[in-house]
Amino acid sequence: MSYLETFDSLTYEKEVYKPSKETVKNSYVDNYDRLYEYSIKENEKFWDEIAKQLNWFRHYDKVLDASDPPFYKWFTGGKTNIVYNALDRHVTTFRKNKLALIWEGEDGCERVYTYFSLYKEVNKFANVLKSFGVKKGDTVTIYLPNIPEIAISMLACAKIGAIHSVVYAGFSAFALRDRISDAQSKLLITADGAYRGGKVIELKKIADEALTKTPVVQTVIVVRRTGKEVAIDTSRDFYYDELMKLPIANTYLKTEEMDSEDPLFILYTSGTTGKPKGILHVHGGYSVGTYITSKYVFNINDNDTYWCAADPGWITGHSYIIYGPLINGATTVMVEGSPYYPYPDRWWKIVEKHGVNIFYTSPTAIRGIMRFGENWPNRHNLSSLKILGSVGEPINPEVWRWYHKHIGKERCPIMDTWWQTESGMFLITPVPSLPLKPGSCGKPFFGIDADIFDESGKSVEAGKGGYLVIKKPWPAMMRTIYKDEDRYKKTYFSKFNDVYLAGDAAKRDKDGYFYVMGRIDDVIKVSGYRLGTAEIESAIITHEAVAESAVIGKPHDIKGNSIKAFVVLKPNIEKSDTLMDDIRSNVGKTLGPIAKPDEIEFVDSLPKTRSGKIMRRVLKARDIGIDEGDISTIEED
Ligand code: PRX
Repeated sequence: MSYLETFDSLTYEKEVYKPSKETVKNSYVDNYDRLYEYSIKENEKFWDEIAKQLNWFRHYDKVLDASDPPFYKWFTGGKTNIVYNALDRHVTTFRKNKLALIWEGEDGCERVYTYFSLYKEVNKFANVLKSFGVKKGDTVTIYLPNIPEIAISMLACAKIGAIHSVVYAGFSAFALRDRISDAQSKLLITADGAYRGGKVIELKKIADEALTKTPVVQTVIVVRRTGKEVAIDTSRDFYYDELMKLPIANTYLKTEEMDSEDPLFILYTSGTTGKPKGILHVHGGYSVGTYITSKYVFNINDNDTYWCAADPGWITGHSYIIYGPLINGATTVMVEGSPYYPYPDRWWKIVEKHGVNIFYTSPTAIRGIMRFGENWPNRHNLSSLKILGSVGEPINPEVWRWYHKHIGKERCPIMDTWWQTESGMFLITPVPSLPLKPGSCGKPFFGIDADIFDESGKSVEAGKGGYLVIKKPWPAMMRTIYKDEDRYKKTYFSKFNDVYLAGDAAKRDKDGYFYVMGRIDDVIKVSGYRLGTAEIESAIITHEAVAESAVIGKPHDIKGNSIKAFVVLKPNIEKSDTLMDDIRSNVGKTLGPIAKPDEIEFVDSLPKTRSGKIMRRVLKARDIGIDEGDISTIEED
């Protein structure tokens, strides 16, 4: 039995939740099957019809250029800019004074922006960036917490054609340094600090440390968030608020006309090697994909308040806090800090306060909240909610049912959206009018030709596990790995010739519902965060006492997976609990607190293939008590 076949023994649910008549009536898509069939048969025509709903400076000549697979191009000849669709087009309509962004800080402060005020802030900051010489094609690294300035910075970069590279504010100085160096950013935007769970994270201090070895950065713009004193290098550092008061920060700037295929952003994500991949997305296709998925899946209407509780530092925040909702002219909510601080009802208080209609979060967050019991959500009026969402990892059926019952009050459909940094947009997901099955992420989105392959590239029958693949390109797909076209081709398109390999194992039931089981590569999802085992291992071996290490993910009730590290110490080093703690905190410093191993086991050696590759699957099998032979077969030698 192969590793993939071990999934066959898992049962899937027969439980079906039908949408109410009202949900179907109010949905943009009332008949999934009909539209899906059309979108696959007439794929380019379908995407053309969607793309026409957006504004273009110049209409495109061709929908899809597939002349050089897997380097697909969409809407070629078209001129656009994501900001043209996310802001500019709204300020000349009734949306001008509509709320675009509602922000809640962890310390209880609140800020709101209308489309017009956000547009002006973005213009001002875009002018500031230009005054520092940032121009079309330059990269700008953004290391900011969940505050409005992160959205303003991203939009300002896009507006002038600069490529933003957001680094999650939970990453360490070393991780930030590597990402700045890879992107070669001359400008960094950061903050004095961030609030999380009642604590202050000293971002500027971390950024300064990162910059000691990245001479490429010439300018640092510092947003004042905590107001605490930070070290300022007057030849390099400038406060954001002071710059925004200068005459140069004019409230008007013409949006740069970009080719559809011009880069919009790089977002680093983990893969199977220690080096993170710079996933590159472009203006045209990404605008189209995030626009239509937000609209059809969350059924966003003009009078809705939409809240995605992710961090803008990850793809979910890029696509579904900022770009997708703004292109739809929605009111998007951003919340800084922890869901449990000061109390575990913080989120439900916010839902009630702002009358949130659509709420999108991760299974990890729901599991974390569930621990405290339903009395916390029950203290609040959640009747504004209409649609719920889940993302980042498989949602266990019992968690799904709790979310459905205690948050959605059995009224709100749950959109379990399966997608990736690479995909830019939802690929497999329900729409509100589709009957739901707990634990299933539903069916492929329109235009998405998803399948499940066996080892030889044949589609597997219902109920069988296999490799999740996408057989047709889609507009919001990544265009390449930044400066590494070979890796792009090899990682995603080489196992099954020109078919996109997602890196997940999945199966499908006889009704065509997909069930994603988890990663098949050396990537672990910990609390929904994506981490590479090789990255964590590299961080572990930076400790002077460590000779070698191997990392695995272990099933965990709240986090989905926990991190276990097997560590071989250098000769004559004594094993101790203090050393274990020291290795853990060293990983925190090197990579970031999210990557700290939950468990460390000192071992004398690691199982390896003949060519010296560590057999992590064997370690995992031993650790969780599965037959080693069963799962070691896919280990490549
Ligand atoms: O394993 C899948 C899991 O998250 C991976 C992508 O991670 P990342 O690029 O960080 O993007 C996360 C947010 C889109 C996938 O390969 N994943 C994501 N959503 C789901 C999921 N697994 C199961 N169900 C989901 N809904």
